[in-house]
Amino acid sequence: AAAAVTVGCDTPPDGDPTATPGAGTLRFPRDFGWGAATSAYQIEGAAKEDGRGESIWDTFSRTPGRTRNGDTGDVAADHYHRWSEDLDLMRDLGLHSYRFSVSWPRIQADGTGRPNQRGLDFYRRLVDGLHERGVAPMVTLFHWDLPQSLQDAGGWENRDTAYRFADYADAVFRGLGDQVPVWLTVNEPKTVVQNGYLWGHHAPGRQDPDAAYLVAHHLQLAHGLAVRALRATGSTARIGPAFNLHPCYPADDTPAAAAATRLYDGYENRLYLDSVLTGAYPADVLADLGEDSRLVRGIADGDLEIISSPVDLLAVQYYTPIYVTADGGTVRRWATSEAEWQQIYPEGMYDILTRVTRDYGPVPITVTENGLPCPDVVGADGTVDDAGRIAFLRDHFAAAHRAIAAGVPLESYHVWSLLDNFEWAEGYDQRWGLVYVDYATQRRIPKRSAHWYRQVISDNGL
Ligand code: NOJ
Repeated sequence: AAAAVTVGCDTPPDGDPTATPGAGTLRFPRDFGWGAATSAYQIEGAAKEDGRGESIWDTFSRTPGRTRNGDTGDVAADHYHRWSEDLDLMRDLGLHSYRFSVSWPRIQADGTGRPNQRGLDFYRRLVDGLHERGVAPMVTLFHWDLPQSLQDAGGWENRDTAYRFADYADAVFRGLGDQVPVWLTVNEPKTVVQNGYLWGHHAPGRQDPDAAYLVAHHLQLAHGLAVRALRATGSTARIGPAFNLHPCYPADDTPAAAAATRLYDGYENRLYLDSVLTGAYPADVLADLGEDSRLVRGIADGDLEIISSPVDLLAVQYYTPIYVTADGGTVRRWATSEAEWQQIYPEGMYDILTRVTRDYGPVPITVTENGLPCPDVVGADGTVDDAGRIAFLRDHFAAAHRAIAAGVPLESYHVWSLLDNFEWAEGYDQRWGLVYVDYATQRRIPKRSAHWYRQVISDNGL
């Protein structure tokens, strides 16, 4: 009966989300890491400060009609100025780990050349401040804010951008040094490919399938080159890619739906996983793209060796399943969230985690994103009651717990997001945070989910 019904975030599907039946029974492993995630363009603001250059998201969001309400990241959650207060929030939550991204155009305004010391200093302060508060930094190198100058030179369609990325990564490795225990290379390459180049509702706003898969290759190459750049510094830090994985299920039990699902999964998951973890692109996807595709033509000798440079961990971001029909289309099966692409299906977390371990072996996994947008409002008493988000997280935590019990080497979990922020084309309308941001005053109000999460962390379980 729940099918195709949008669950209001304030009406949890099954009663009081905090009344965890059998409370105290779901314990996570002793050293399990609890965290939260953000990204630079979505929270920092300060778009013109300290030598920051322009990124493709500045260009895109300032183009009329591209984002809801014409929202831009110019101010966002003003984290660039409020970082210290935000770090205190993390300490108060008891976070073990904070995942954030470095803005490439703060480090290299035009995407090349000597690093901008003022940009590095900002992240140095952040990293030091995290350590002072007992929170481990986890740093993403690329979360979509490509320097506009590099876009002008072809962006990710230009193979050279991968090499520019490796230079930038090297500057960040040297600038932040041994204070960062875990690095993530490219955030969700698939989203850049699909939203940026297939459907065009993200920067740079293209609709060109042939370009899209060449972009995929160059993003994978950039990942591999950055892994090698880190090793070349002699660092002992760990590094891996951050993939948004979508478990794909046939919409019915016909052989045609099964076959369509298999190929769909190739484009959603195996294209990224196989190239990094097995050193080959999936044959069915390559065959489907064809020999004349820019991807196939763009693979140079040695690229797959670079792309499959050994990683230390795999970062998984799970939001939604996909149900594939016999003709290769998709249908909805579960209630959706405010994000129309998101169906609420906690079991998908279990399925994707166990599948990765089954198919690729025991590579350590961190969940670097999972969360729910809700129409949060500040009540008369000044609190934000996001019971639906609590129910969502509880069910996904429980699914992750089952995956651990089934043998998945899952070491940590980061909720998306710490703060309400700029949700790309959706602007500020979609609120994903554990902490409410009143954009008029920039006041932070921890939501009920934040208080609940603090208890989960302190109990190390549900
Ligand atoms: C994935 C992205 O990495 C993040 O930037 C975005 O805000 C969330 N998903 C929610 O859509």
